[in-house]
Amino acid sequence: MLRFFTLALLSLVALVGCEQQTPNYSLNSPNGLITFTLHNDQHGRVFYSVSRDGKPVVNASRLGFQFANAPGFDDTLSITAQSSTSSDETWEQPWGERRLVRDHHNEQAFTLSDGSRDITLRVRAFDDGVGFRYEFPESFKQGELLITDEMTQFALAQPEAQAYWIKAYQKDRYEYEHDISTVSQITVAHTPTTIKQADGLYVTIHEAALIDYSSMVLRGTDSGTLNAELVAAYNGIRVTQEGAFNTPWRTLQISDSATALLSSNMIINLNDPNVIGDVSYAKPGVYMGIWWGMHIRENSWHTGPILGATTEEAMRYIDFISEAGLDGFLVEGWNIGWDGDWIANADIFSYTQPTEFFDLERIAAYAQEKNVALILHNETSAGIKNYEDQMADAYDLYESLGVHYLKTGYVEFLNGYPRHGISTEDSRDHLGWEWNHGQYMINHYQHSVEEAAKRRIVINMHEPIKPTGLRRTYPNFMSREGVRGQEYNAWSNGNQPNHTTILPFTRMMAGPADFTPGVFNVQPYGPDSAERIRTTVAKQLALMVVLYSPLQMAADLPRHYAARPELFQFIKDLPADWEESIPLAADIGEYAVYARQERGSEDWFIGGITNDTPRDVEIDFNFLGEGDFVATIYRDGPDADWRSNPQDAVVESVTVNADSVLDIAMASGGGFAISVMKNDRQ
Ligand code: NOJ
Ligand code: CA
Repeated sequence: MLRFFTLALLSLVALVGCEQQTPNYSLNSPNGLITFTLHNDQHGRVFYSVSRDGKPVVNASRLGFQFANAPGFDDTLSITAQSSTSSDETWEQPWGERRLVRDHHNEQAFTLSDGSRDITLRVRAFDDGVGFRYEFPESFKQGELLITDEMTQFALAQPEAQAYWIKAYQKDRYEYEHDISTVSQITVAHTPTTIKQADGLYVTIHEAALIDYSSMVLRGTDSGTLNAELVAAYNGIRVTQEGAFNTPWRTLQISDSATALLSSNMIINLNDPNVIGDVSYAKPGVYMGIWWGMHIRENSWHTGPILGATTEEAMRYIDFISEAGLDGFLVEGWNIGWDGDWIANADIFSYTQPTEFFDLERIAAYAQEKNVALILHNETSAGIKNYEDQMADAYDLYESLGVHYLKTGYVEFLNGYPRHGISTEDSRDHLGWEWNHGQYMINHYQHSVEEAAKRRIVINMHEPIKPTGLRRTYPNFMSREGVRGQEYNAWSNGNQPNHTTILPFTRMMAGPADFTPGVFNVQPYGPDSAERIRTTVAKQLALMVVLYSPLQMAADLPRHYAARPELFQFIKDLPADWEESIPLAADIGEYAVYARQERGSEDWFIGGITNDTPRDVEIDFNFLGEGDFVATIYRDGPDADWRSNPQDAVVESVTVNADSVLDIAMASGGGFAISVMKNDRQ
């Protein structure tokens, strides 16, 4: 690790402008392109701004806090600079989209003081953005501190720039398609929110290391200033803390090209290293499950004639998965609690008792025998007390059965309650309703991850808190939903073709997503039904590469894979752990092409997707190592179109090397996948 102190990073800048009373401080990124500036005005209010290559990206934006039980910390503040540091280190991920991650930044801490109380503002400038956080010392206040407002602002310099965002405080959490509007038209947005300026500059606003705090949403204003808003608890308090604590990092990822933005490691770099020790049990892989059948109503979670989770069906799946050489098997509906309206069953789910139709011990043993990782599902229906009461026993049981993977779920019961969210009490009459993304739930999610880690269990969380890079600190938190995934194509008005071309720039900037791609039968209700998946079959393969998840689902039914063995071969070959990932070409809402190198191998896997617009992309294979490779291309056929002919796909093999360039056509709602293998595995 290279770490050295330098005072040279800190420069005093004389700014023109009459309201500034005290010196301005600035911190530059290692390449000097990104500059973070701090100043205060004559009232002692503190402002920061950010520029790239001399052009403003974020204009003067407030910092500060309001409290319910202490005076505000937002004016009459002085700024003093503490020491600065610089760091250039490369660390290794236990699993990930790339094995080695470079963390190259300059850091500067500032003391903000109102005379009697201090807060440290720590800033890190990277070549692709900045992060800053507030650090509260224990001396800030004795006893509880109740935050009612974090006053951080993001006064975007181009309020007319295009923003891609998901509206916060909606009943289905993050599970929406994006709003596309000017920055000044944002009402209230989840993060990551991504902005594309007219000059092509991309800015993603998000946060890193969200622990024991509320998540930040962005409250818009007509001027284009976005105000940080912490999601409130049921009693209106936004964060309750005691003693010393740090806020999450507020992050701005800034790049002048789409592919540079998509390559950013800033979010994981701003998180602490692994604190849970050996994570060799957390193995990436491709999994199938007793799952899609329920969503397309061929099976049920509840007991009855079409129950999905029977011992026989599970064994059939395990056999299929094992024969295909895939890695994992998910089972939902295996436990007591699904009968009746399961979303109302928050208080009666059991996490230790299987139904009489599912022999848990036998299936766990059979999966082990077949070298398939069993992934058990725990739907909580947001019954937090019921789940926490059983957590230790349930996780102990799974550990004793050799089960290392858990999918959790937090679908809420919404009807007839004063505000939707999660009851903090046993009783449904209590008004203590919490949002999924407030501090109460963030602490619950964290508790689940930590309890799981103690038992060498991996979590794949649905209806989760958004990722903020904690996978670095807790590598057993491998994947999560927090996205409008494939399931919406089964029982709602579905996802538009551009949805997945926006996701790399928004949700995926935060971390892996369990989107559950890979459905071959994209018209599960027949060709005449409007309910369908709005992609070609080739795009479904491509999504398995484009939308990164270390636990990548091949979501379709075994019989649909068996019917297209020539396409299923790509899924059989596909790894889920990467040496390197390179976004080759992308434009938000239009298209995205990724090449990923299998970890510890010379082989590459490429996925490309387009929105409704058919287009060609040119793939330059200059990232390949030496020698010849067999490229097997799974692409849209000449007549492919998501509306009229989604099944038209062509598979062909060509020899390529690092000098090769291929032109590949994508149909409307289409895409392609390529395996590039040194030795043909087929
Ligand atoms: C919603 C989840 O996203 C889905 O994967 C799961 O099957 C259902 N809830 C039932 O728990
Ligand atoms: Ca969901």
